[in-house]
Amino acid sequence: MRMERTLVIVKPDGVQRGLIGPLLSRLEARGLKIVGLKLVQVSQDLAARHYAEHEGKPFYPGLLKYITSAPVIVACVEGTSAVQMVRNSVGATNPLNAAPGTVRGDLALDIGRNLIHASDAPATAERELALWFQDAELVSYERATDRWIFES
Ligand code: RTP
Ligand code: MG
Repeated sequence: MRMERTLVIVKPDGVQRGLIGPLLSRLEARGLKIVGLKLVQVSQDLAARHYAEHEGKPFYPGLLKYITSAPVIVACVEGTSAVQMVRNSVGATNPLNAAPGTVRGDLALDIGRNLIHASDAPATAERELALWFQDAELVSYERATDRWIFES
């Protein structure tokens, strides 16, 4: 098990639906540590860079319109195997296939309104974190509960 950081975005629908707290709360309750957090109105440029891998796909224009339509919450969370842990808590891309208990399985219906983003691999997390956060915006700190969450 390795300590990792990953990027989480509460997408515009999450903010508009008043789910910032509940979504971050799920990750906090799991033991993940929030080490960076801010509200951002996403520019076209940042949206295009974040979703560069999807350029040219049929859903790309709608995806850019969605992510820039209203503010998002961007978080960096840290924990044991954080990249895969958060992906598992978020659930399948299409809420139709997302297991109950996951964010998308419990709270979303449409693939284009699936509430949350999570980096899909450690290398992606590194690239995305550099895109959304300056180094000084990520803070390393101890929690009194760390020893009750992390075995070592
Ligand atoms: P995300 O990047 O947002 O965490 O989601 P993901 O890894 O589960 O899915 P990804 O394949 O990276 O797709 C990014 C977002 O694009 C929208 N999408 N729509 N209509 C479609 O076929 C389709 N496919 C993807 C979703 O909002 C997805 O989260
Ligand atoms: Mg993705």
